[in-house]
Amino acid sequence: MSARWSEDQWGESEQRSEFQKIRRKHSKPKGRRRIDDLTAKNTEDIADDTIRRLIDLGHLSEVVAELKSGKEATAYIARSDKGSVLLKIYRDFEARSFKNDAIYREGQVVLDQRAARAMKSRSSKGLEMLQFDWVMSEYAHLWHLWRAGLSVPEPLVGPNVKTYAETVPAVLMRLIGTEDQPAPRLSDARLSPEEARSAWQQAVGGMADMLRLGYAHGDYSTYNLLWWENQVILIDFPQLTTRQNPNFRDLLRRDAESLATSFKRHGIQETGESTLREVQRRALGPAPEPRVVLP
Ligand SMILES: Nc1ncnc2c1ncn2[C@@H]1O[C@H](COP(=O)(O)OP(=O)(O)OP(=O)(O)O)[C@@H](O)[C@H]1O
Ligand SMILES: [Mg+2]
Repeated sequence: MSARWSEDQWGESEQRSEFQKIRRKHSKPKGRRRIDDLTAKNTEDIADDTIRRLIDLGHLSEVVAELKSGKEATAYIARSDKGSVLLKIYRDFEARSFKNDAIYREGQVVLDQRAARAMKSRSSKGLEMLQFDWVMSEYAHLWHLWRAGLSVPEPLVGPNVKTYAETVPAVLMRLIGTEDQPAPRLSDARLSPEEARSAWQQAVGGMADMLRLGYAHGDYSTYNLLWWENQVILIDFPQLTTRQNPNFRDLLRRDAESLATSFKRHGIQETGESTLREVQRRALGPAPEPRVVLP
């Protein structure tokens, strides 16, 4: 459906058939899941079909607790044989407080005309496609940023697109922090003046790293930055946009603005304008060391 995650890897008909498979698996719109429905002694007794599927596929061994319920997804702490997992389960588009995604989608090439029409019409099938596309985009972006060496959580399914398509509407990534003490967001962390300066530098650096790759985050602020062992970790990537998007510059400016505003509580006094200039300057500098990912 979207060119963001389908490049070279998937033909249109394959995308559609994968989408149909997932579609059959959950027909009733789901909002926030109750933790009781996600846990049970025996896998077959778990009420939630997404969780049963993730366990059957070997991506998950158990869900431990709910961490946080956000606007469009709920984050859970879970486990797998790779360690502690942050399981982000998106609500169905119909069931979530509607987020205007049009601004992020502009300029995006949708190769599949049937899918493009369905998504535009916002019929229930169209909304399901948008949902699928949104979740797949978060994986694709996570993989891209992770491989490029940015400070983001490691995606735990993939990099093969077909593999991570099987986990929709969930995204599995490494939990930052520990199960008992997950990393706080920078919006909640208490920082000394020195820590605040370091966090600010890292946050500006993170935005510059993304810009160097041609991305604007689209929701960049201390609410989407984690703080763990003096490191800033960037999260929440479904809405990244590229220069193809006519709103790119506006989104970039808005990101710089919200970053500066959200850092005021840590005693950092910068304007959106000075922040954007610094981001642009640093984007011309050296990139982080890429990570090698074995297939
Ligand atoms: N890898 C991670 N490790 C630890 N905690 C995480 C991780 N990813 C996300 N979180 C936590 O889960 C919350 C929700 O994640 P995220 O921001 O991606 O989803 P969201 O639905 O957009 O939430 P919101 O509406 O609050 O922005 C984050 O605010 C953070 O507290
Ligand atoms: Mg968020």
